[in-house]
Amino acid sequence: MVNKASKPTDPIIGLDTWNIQLDQNGQLKHFLTTEGLGSEMLTHILDTAESFANINDQRVKKVPLLRGKTIVNLFFEASTRTRTTFELAAKRLSADVLNININTSATSKGETLLDTLQNIQAMQCDMFIVRHNDSGAAHFIANHVAPNISVINAGDGWHAHPTQAMLDMFTIRRNKGNDFSRLRVAIVGDILHSRVARSQIHAFNTLNTGEVRVIAPKTLLPVGIEDMGVNIFTDLEAGIEDADVVIMLRLQKERMQGALLPSEQEYYRLYGLTSQRLRAAKDDVIVMHPGPINRGVEIDSCVADGARSVILDQVSYGISVRMAVMTMVLGREIPDTNRVTDNTSQTDNTKDQSGGIA
Ligand code: NCD
Repeated sequence: MVNKASKPTDPIIGLDTWNIQLDQNGQLKHFLTTEGLGSEMLTHILDTAESFANINDQRVKKVPLLRGKTIVNLFFEASTRTRTTFELAAKRLSADVLNININTSATSKGETLLDTLQNIQAMQCDMFIVRHNDSGAAHFIANHVAPNISVINAGDGWHAHPTQAMLDMFTIRRNKGNDFSRLRVAIVGDILHSRVARSQIHAFNTLNTGEVRVIAPKTLLPVGIEDMGVNIFTDLEAGIEDADVVIMLRLQKERMQGALLPSEQEYYRLYGLTSQRLRAAKDDVIVMHPGPINRGVEIDSCVADGARSVILDQVSYGISVRMAVMTMVLGREIPDTNRVTDNTSQTDNTKDQSGGIA
């Protein structure tokens, strides 16, 4: 498969995403998108996450790698699992964590956002984890923070959700091995509004995946999606036939304007993943979903809770992958898990805070 990630100018946010993520030495400084990062970098993230997965299995799940660092969760859009797994990842690395939930309705890009940033920067923090309703917000923030601060994109509009994509790659590698060229992957559902699907497709291309299929009604497929090197299906059973991996996506009703679908019942009738339909895929298929799942809309409970589902593993692996990315952007060594385990660090180093400060 052609790697489409070699010279990206992102069509959604219209920015050259190539330079901003890497420092002069080619190291990851910000993690904003999977687009444009080479397979070495993506594999390095996965390998680093692997060493952290061992730590997460230990009785004392804490290492001192980011002791003394302050990480700010800056969430302009609601989130449960992404925010909490970032927070847990930061705590397991012994960083101080500040949670700031900002009601987006009063906040728009420009002065207010910059004011917010300047206020938080004055608290001498080292990293912003940003979730925002607007595509391009994480790039905007990365372009305006002080040079010592790293930014991780925790989901911006329809654009990108790179740590979700990497935890998905990690989950696939753990279940199917390192060779992605042997895999047929099917992504099903609301591709149009899905930052997760976009980040996954870039990562799949870079990791040289055998075949990537997208399956959706025409109204939920973005114009030009075929340029990303995927094969398009509008029929669920044909699309998941012989798939090794089936990734289900939520209908993002909060992002839909106008009637893109007749009804949820009709959507479930045509695109809901049931045990019966899943038979079209390979016997050892894994079923994934970034969450939150809508049972009876895109997926039947029997499948979501069934033997082929790895949905809860994705959540657990999200901690290891986020630990890996945080450590990499702050320029630390890859941990040797035997060496770095710190049984003495038991203090509560979290400063929780809610409410806006803009
Ligand atoms: C996804 C998101 O927010 O983009 N969820 C997540 O990060 N766990 C997908 C979704 O909201 O459907």
